Amino acid sequence: MGFKTQQDLVDFILKKQERRPLYESVSRFAPANIALCKYWGKKDDVFNLPTNSSLSISLGGKGTYTTISCSDHDTLIVNGEETALKAPISQRLFRFLNLFRLPDTKFHIQTTGNLPLGAGLASSASSFASYILALSHLYGWQLSRQELSILARLGSGSAARSIYDGFVVWHAASDPLASYAEPLKKTWDDLCIGLILVSDAAKPFSSSEAMKLTKQTSPLYQNWAQAAKQDFTLLKRAIRQSDFQLFGEVCEHNAMTMHATMIAAKPMILYWLPETLAVFQKVHELRKKGLQVYLTEDAGPNVKLLFLRKDRVEIQKHFPEMDVVQPFSEIPDFSKNNPFVVRIDKRDRMLGFENKQLVHERCLLHRAISVLIYRRRGKDIEILLQKRHKNKYHSGGLWANTCCSHPQPHGDLSVEAQKILIYEMGFSVPLKQIGHFTYQEQVGKGVWESEYDYLFVGQYQEGDTIRYHPEEIFAIKWMPLEQLKSELKHKPDKYVVWLPEIMSMFNKYINH
Ligand code: DP6
Repeated sequence: MGFKTQQDLVDFILKKQERRPLYESVSRFAPANIALCKYWGKKDDVFNLPTNSSLSISLGGKGTYTTISCSDHDTLIVNGEETALKAPISQRLFRFLNLFRLPDTKFHIQTTGNLPLGAGLASSASSFASYILALSHLYGWQLSRQELSILARLGSGSAARSIYDGFVVWHAASDPLASYAEPLKKTWDDLCIGLILVSDAAKPFSSSEAMKLTKQTSPLYQNWAQAAKQDFTLLKRAIRQSDFQLFGEVCEHNAMTMHATMIAAKPMILYWLPETLAVFQKVHELRKKGLQVYLTEDAGPNVKLLFLRKDRVEIQKHFPEMDVVQPFSEIPDFSKNNPFVVRIDKRDRMLGFENKQLVHERCLLHRAISVLIYRRRGKDIEILLQKRHKNKYHSGGLWANTCCSHPQPHGDLSVEAQKILIYEMGFSVPLKQIGHFTYQEQVGKGVWESEYDYLFVGQYQEGDTIRYHPEEIFAIKWMPLEQLKSELKHKPDKYVVWLPEIMSMFNKYINH
């Protein structure tokens, strides 16, 4: 197929697909990925066709969450801050979006990452993958994952791999339709990736520029392509056989070969800082002492360590600042409602987002919403309580307020509160936010709550049918307010730990 421009390719792939948005707003997440056998050098700059095949590991719940909303003009919010449309990051994004939308369609884009931007931690990969996943949903495209991978590749080559979790291979090919990524059907539960942030300053050369320079001027470039081919084959074997030593050696050697090749370019492309080298040295010393730890590094000063779970505690002692990802056990569960939580500081300023399970295991402060529905019966007030399903990840079988959940990264709190009420209870009433409270408690074995919780109240309207979600809730009941007060005093073990705080706020509100 003779494609000349990216637009030709997009039009070909989308030929029968919808070109008008089906929804007002959609959100999608894509994981970051770390290349283990790197993509370095393009056969074709227009279509981002790589010279060599590459292999990566996706980082579970670390990546980019993007919300695309239809609007009457374009805006871009990156990590909570409005970004000028003239800024390079906006220009790059809207150039990409223009490939897919009709000229009169405008977007309000909110995109949030939980890894530093532009520091060689593959954030452009997860960003472009999240844009394409969100667009595909917004327009209701019926495309295969391979096609989505090709489209993401047009934004940034490595984004082709961020469409998937786990180990991913991206095939080199001369045909723009044949160079896509696909997952390797092999998991490695014990594998850990340690992220060591040496600097979050933007890198001196973009990957595209640096690849071009390397290819044009480095006398070692031919060798790189050859070495990468061998590493790709060896790495697949190491993964298939769960041979960690071979795996680590190939990953580290591949990264060093790539950097050696670019250091030999004119001008020299050097991403390393003195701190980077200090980490390299420490890793080598630890290995000499018998610890199985290897490293890899992309186009930036930051280092990623590769090791197995059995050595995690020991390695963390030597790198206390290291953030450890277990790529196969920390994949967010999108089959569940609200798989992420918004991490905040004590003043409710957003720090990022995180996999729900992880936050509760590590007792990290995050944002929550509680809803309390009441009704009047003569002079009495009754509260709608739910008994949490016994399969809930904590506090199963205990009685709680009407419903609670976690707002998603770009969610408006009152919209999210309504969504939760509809999802869990099957009805909706006007809700009023009456305040917030914070608490920290152990709520199960190895599970903690540390929440900044916004309380919404609403009055039940007679005639509304309650249809509670059977996977979330075991039973419901209306309880007179006075009886609930007495129960909380005399039988607190039947109730969730956060209910007394909610009831005390509600009492103040209702008596006001
Ligand atoms: C060193 O995908 O950022 O991380 O296709 O020009 O956007 P463009 O480059 P990019 O390059 C990534 C380079 C790398 C290795 C890799 O991810 O394979």
